[in-house]
Amino acid sequence: MSRRRLLGATGVAAGVAAGAVPHPAAARGGQEDQEDEAAPRPAGRLADKVVLITGATSGIGEAAARLMAAEGARVFFCGRRAHLGRRVEARIRASGGEATYRRADVREEADVENLVAACVERYGRVDIAYNNAGVESPRAVRLHEQSLRDLTDVWRTNTAGVFLGMKYEIPRMLARGGGVIVNTASISAEVGFATIAPYNASKHAVASLTKVAALEYAAEGVRVSAFAPGAVDTPMLRRAAEAFGMTYEQIARDYPIGRIVPAGEMARVMMWLGSADAAPLVGTDVDVSGGYLTG
Ligand SMILES: NC(=O)c1ccc[n+]([C@@H]2O[C@H](COP(=O)([O-])OP(=O)(O)OC[C@H]3O[C@@H](n4cnc5c(N)ncnc54)[C@H](OP(=O)(O)O)[C@@H]3O)[C@@H](O)[C@H]2O)c1
Repeated sequence: MSRRRLLGATGVAAGVAAGAVPHPAAARGGQEDQEDEAAPRPAGRLADKVVLITGATSGIGEAAARLMAAEGARVFFCGRRAHLGRRVEARIRASGGEATYRRADVREEADVENLVAACVERYGRVDIAYNNAGVESPRAVRLHEQSLRDLTDVWRTNTAGVFLGMKYEIPRMLARGGGVIVNTASISAEVGFATIAPYNASKHAVASLTKVAALEYAAEGVRVSAFAPGAVDTPMLRRAAEAFGMTYEQIARDYPIGRIVPAGEMARVMMWLGSADAAPLVGTDVDVSGGYLTG
């Protein structure tokens, strides 16, 4: 099986319980638990920043919410599963951080508009927005076997969700003289992967929307970029691995880095992309795949 067949990683799969696949490589590299439990630092790297994250009830978004709250940010975040959202919020607050969960479905324009408005109402502004919510392709089949419904469903979350996020975040940022937007793309935004047309096309479109927005607003202080993870240890990757019948060890072989990246490690990349240290980074889908896209 070629590597492109193996792993748009997140392109695949359906309905498999999280945690079904062992992932020692991720555990070995993982520093996120140390970060998660850290007491918030008032003078942390994101002190005074208001961060909005879509899709932070699990996975990369959850790790980012916890890390950024520990770094002093006030974090406003969404996802559809309210029980998980409330749990993430409670965990951050129990550590002394500041976070607010609001249920929102990024496929729904009113939800996204209200999410951004509620963040501004709660914390006064949006400094850094991470449009991160995403879903995998429900079925790993060739294009002629894909359904329009699956294509549209994945597109509504991964592409329209990012579009709607930026549509409502940008005016708020322009009104305050600037801001930063970071969209979660994928290696699937950069190369084709067989059997996951809905996901692959949706992520290519995220890279496109990122470039367009970056060009349109850079001169007015709104900096837009994206990043392209390869394989990150999250419930989505576990579902994908299960669907392909692969272990994490087998998946990791496709990556020069030789391991699955822990979600907390990706969260630190996200934090950097949103920070002033990344100021010249405009419109790019940054390769953070551990070498998958190299060469
Ligand atoms: N893990 C990887 O290897 C990998 C690689 C490349 C790119 N990515 C991208 O990284 C992002 C995060 O994925 P993950 O790996 O962390 O997967 P995950 O654990 O499944 O998290 C996905 C998040 O998106 C949220 N979400 C999904 N549909 C939503 C909707 N309609 N409205 C609001 N929130 C929604 C989910 O919350 P609810 O279910 O509660 O709504 C959840 O919080 C995705 O864009 C994914 O494509 C992941």
